[in-house]
Amino acid sequence: MCKKQVAVVTGASRGIGRAIAIQLATQGCFVIVNYNGSKEAALNTKEEIVSRGGEAEVYQCDVADYSESERFFSEIIKTYGTIDVLVNNAGINRDGLIIKMSEEDFDRVIDTNMKGAFHCIRFALKAMLRQKSGRIINISSVSGVMGNAGQANYAASKAGIIGLTKSVAREVASRHITVNAVAPGFIQTDMTEKLSDAVKERVKAGIPLGQFGKPEDVAAMVGFLATKEADYITGQVICVDGGMAM
Ligand code: NAI
Repeated sequence: MCKKQVAVVTGASRGIGRAIAIQLATQGCFVIVNYNGSKEAALNTKEEIVSRGGEAEVYQCDVADYSESERFFSEIIKTYGTIDVLVNNAGINRDGLIIKMSEEDFDRVIDTNMKGAFHCIRFALKAMLRQKSGRIINISSVSGVMGNAGQANYAASKAGIIGLTKSVAREVASRHITVNAVAPGFIQTDMTEKLSDAVKERVKAGIPLGQFGKPEDVAAMVGFLATKEADYITGQVICVDGGMAM
């Protein structure tokens, strides 16, 4: 059993997920740092949290896998007795024009980004419904809000997350569980680092605030949605994007 609020952050070994894990630990949560393949990086996130006086534990789970996700959440609930905050952050991209997109690239992105969020919500809700409280925060994307050429699979998965967010928000509102989506714009992480300079410059030209975001910009919004002060906010999509999607 855990006296602190328990927060599960998927894909928290690096990038935005790591920043969210650190933010929630700073706010006093016990953080479950989920990773799929990168154990070393996940342990590094945990070390960073501990070095700042927080508490965390690392857990492996491929969120795209239904039964693995079920086992993961059962273990968390058994060990800590509760899940107060779930952040569905794990995500991948396999960009390409639709005319050349393979079925495998389409399926893998949907399975990880959208079905992964479904799996985690499905199993985390077991604890949240029982305790009649909880915060679910899903990481969408401006691609899901606006669409983006070359990202049909990714944009579909992120738009799917928005539908999932609003539907689940309506289903669980009576149990005092809020469900929101945060839609980042272009954030500097490994995911965006691989883009060419020409693409980066083109994207930057479309950002009213004129610069890329940092993982901490997204983490600050997620942190707020996890607080008591955000009690009256549910079913929303909040863009953290320098004004890209207004
Ligand atoms: P990243 O590639 O640096 O990190 C993604 C994390 O998800 C990694 O730790 C990875 O291991 C994990 N992951 C991937 N598949 C997984 C699985 N099956 N099970 C568990 N973990 C898995 O990416 P970044 O930039 O930190 O992105 C985080 C989230 O934010 C993603 O959902 C992404 O789509 C979203 N996002 C990112 C934007 C950006 O500009 N970087 C913009 C909009 C949304």
